[in-house]
Amino acid sequence: MSDPFDRLGTLEAHIWARLAEGAADARDPFRFVTLATIGADGPEARTVGLRRADRAAREVEVHSDLRTAKVRALEGDPRAEILCWGAAVQLQVRLRVRVTFLPADPDRWARVPDEARLNYGTDPAPGTAIPAPETLRRTPDIARFVALLGRVERIDVVSLAHDPHRRAIFAPEGRWVAP
Ligand SMILES: Cc1cc2nc3c(=O)[nH]c(=O)nc-3n(C[C@H](O)[C@H](O)[C@H](O)COP(=O)(O)O)c2cc1C
Repeated sequence: MSDPFDRLGTLEAHIWARLAEGAADARDPFRFVTLATIGADGPEARTVGLRRADRAAREVEVHSDLRTAKVRALEGDPRAEILCWGAAVQLQVRLRVRVTFLPADPDRWARVPDEARLNYGTDPAPGTAIPAPETLRRTPDIARFVALLGRVERIDVVSLAHDPHRRAIFAPEGRWVAP
């Protein structure tokens, strides 16, 4: 079987296909990824669900609550990095993105499952101090829902499954680099 890591063209296609699988399947290793932003107090990183990956548009999508710290950070600086790690295939993918916001989009909201909608309706707002966990209220609210659209400016791929390891950067032209 041919190895997508043998050529830059097949590798880039393979990476976008892996991202699309993550967005489509909650059990896929590329579903839950790390989103790193630049906050007022320095770097911030957290786990988020990858919701869409579109190679033609060079865009990925993440959903969140408008009132979170990550949204505040991205309002101040739209640059972010998304980190994916597939342990089974020993593959790291880093996406350098520039994020714009699409708040309260009815089409996207219609596709959010009821259970997930509860994440966009916490009272009080995410990060607010509460006297005890059971005092939290949750009322799904489209007004709090935001799609974060990440325009992919650079992809950095590392495979530990190869010996020696292989690494390539697409920005957007691809090139091999020493791992
Ligand atoms: C497996 C997992 C998936 C998560 N998915 C999301 C998500 O898709 N969107 C989101 O805003 N927060 C998600 N979170 C919660 C964030 O990691 C984070 O705790 C929360 O959004 C507050 O982050 P912030 O204060 O840095 O904005 C997820 C957490 C875990 C553990």
